[in-house]
Amino acid sequence: MTTSAPLTVPTAAAARPQPSPGVRRITGLQPTGRLHLGNLLGAIRPTVAAQYRTETIVFLADLHALTVAHQPNEVRANTLAQATTLLAAGLDPDRTTFYVQSQVPQHTELHYLLECTAGYGEAHRMIQFREKSATQQNVRLSLLSYPVLMAADILLHDVHEVPVGADQGQHLELTRTVAQRFNTRYGDTFVVPRAVHPAVSARVMDLADPTRKMGKSAESDAGVVLLLDPPEVVRRKVMRAVTDPGRTVDYDPQARPGLANLLDILAAAVGGDPAVLAADYRSYAQLKAAVAEAVDGLLRPVRLRHTELARDPGYVRRVLAEGADRARESAADTVYRARRAIGLLT
Ligand code: TRP
Repeated sequence: MTTSAPLTVPTAAAARPQPSPGVRRITGLQPTGRLHLGNLLGAIRPTVAAQYRTETIVFLADLHALTVAHQPNEVRANTLAQATTLLAAGLDPDRTTFYVQSQVPQHTELHYLLECTAGYGEAHRMIQFREKSATQQNVRLSLLSYPVLMAADILLHDVHEVPVGADQGQHLELTRTVAQRFNTRYGDTFVVPRAVHPAVSARVMDLADPTRKMGKSAESDAGVVLLLDPPEVVRRKVMRAVTDPGRTVDYDPQARPGLANLLDILAAAVGGDPAVLAADYRSYAQLKAAVAEAVDGLLRPVRLRHTELARDPGYVRRVLAEGADRARESAADTVYRARRAIGLLT
C-alpha cells in the first residue's frame, strides 16, 4: 500500500483537515429500490457500528444509477428517500462524511483521468458488465465504464478499506490494478485500498425463496422485509416465510436453508449463535414469532426516526450539502495530485 507524500496545494492547504493516521473506509450505495433487512444487516448496521471506530465515508452513487434506463424523477426521489432512511438507521453525519456522488464533481473529474489509465479490455471483461449488457437493448457506454467510476469514487478519498459483497469483488480488484498502474506510471498518487468482507452470517436470504439473496430485484416482495414496512407487514412476511419439511428446529444451512435463514436473522438481531439459539424453539411457529418480534425490534427505532426526519426534508438536504462540502475539500486534494502527475497544467 502506498501513502502519498504531503503536498503543497495552492489554496488553503494548511486549513484542510489532515488525513488521520487511522484507517479510512468508504461505502457506496446505489439509490435504486427500497432498502430492506438484508441491506440493514449486511451493510448499514456494520457501517453504523464502524463509524465510531473508523473514519467513514458514505455516499449515494446516483451517477451509477444512470448507467441503465432510468426515470429522472425516480432517481431524484430515491436519492432523497434513501438518504433519509440511512440517517434514520443511525448514520451519524457528525461522524461520517455523508453525501450524494453527483454533488461532488471530482468523482467525474477523476473518472476521466482513470479512463485514461484503465483498458477497454479490462472493463469489457467485468462479469457484471457482461451479465447486465447481455439483457439490454441499448447498452449505455457508462455501463462499460461503471467500474472505472467506482475506482474514482474510491481512490478520490485515499481510503484503505472498502467493505464489499462478493458481487463487487472484481470491481475492487480493477480499482487496485488501476491505482497501482497509475502510481507506477506517474509516481505515487493513490492509496491502494483493500476489500473487507462482511460477516457471512449477515447474509440474509429471501423469506419466500431462501436459495436467493434478499434483494431489491426480487419479483415479488413477499420475502423481502423493507426497512419501512409497517409492523403488521413485517410480521406477515416472517410468519409466511418458506421453511423446510421437518418438525424439529435445528441449524442446517445446507439441508434446511429456510430454517437456517430465520435462525441467522434471529442471531443477527438478538446476538448469539444460530445453532445454539435453535435449541430454544420447539416449533416453527414459535421460532417465527420470535423472529418477527426481533425484526420488529430492529426496525421500530428506524421507523420512528424516519417519521421525524420525513417531516423536515430540508434537514436531510442540508446534511447532504454539508457532507458534499466536506467531501469536495478532501477530493480536491487527490484530483490535484492526479492532474499534476498525469501531465495536466495545474
Ligand atoms: N457498485 C456498487 C454497488 O452496486 C456501488 C458503488 C459505487 C460503490 N461506487 C462505489 C461501492 C465505491 C463501494 C465503493 O453496490
